[in-house]
Amino acid sequence: MPAPLFRTSRLLPIVAAALCLAASPRLARADAAANVDAKSAPMTTGADVYRHVCQGCHMPDGKGAEGAGARFPAFAGNPKLADSGYPVYVVLNGFGGMPWFNGRLTDEQIANVVNYIRTSFGNHYTDLIKASDVAGQKPPVPTGED
Ligand code: HEC
Repeated sequence: MPAPLFRTSRLLPIVAAALCLAASPRLARADAAANVDAKSAPMTTGADVYRHVCQGCHMPDGKGAEGAGARFPAFAGNPKLADSGYPVYVVLNGFGGMPWFNGRLTDEQIANVVNYIRTSFGNHYTDLIKASDVAGQKPPVPTGED
């Protein structure tokens, strides 16, 4: 019976389009998070910054997420947070699919959110950092001479 087979194959493009739509909300949200500007929302505590800027990708429980071709690492039980310099570096400079926040978040906001992820989600690091620690790690401002 060739007729039913023909009908099924005509449905395929519709099914494919539906799958694309199902995958797109995560990507849309990631783009929106990347456009957060420190000036548009008064965020001071690390928890505020995390909620507004980071959790769209890294998830409210800090366990990260995987899917739609992306991988957002977990902070829960992540040994790479042992050295505070690493998360500061990643937030300032970006890393792979993560946008950079140098100039979008203040040094204080970055220090607070790094302290927040290092003391939340089951992490208990005690060597908290200050805005001056973030300033010390910033890449040099381009002079336009090279
Ligand atoms: C647009 C999505 C997105 C946002 C927003 C985002 N991240 Fe990320 N982040 C990522 C991705 C993707 C990676 C993994 C990059 C890779 O491995 O290539 C990552 C990696 C990291 C890492 C390194 C983890 C590891 O195991 O190496 C840290 C630390 C981090 N992010 C902190 C933050 C903090 C703090 C914020 C909020 C200020 C934030 N991220 C906001 C997507 C995001």
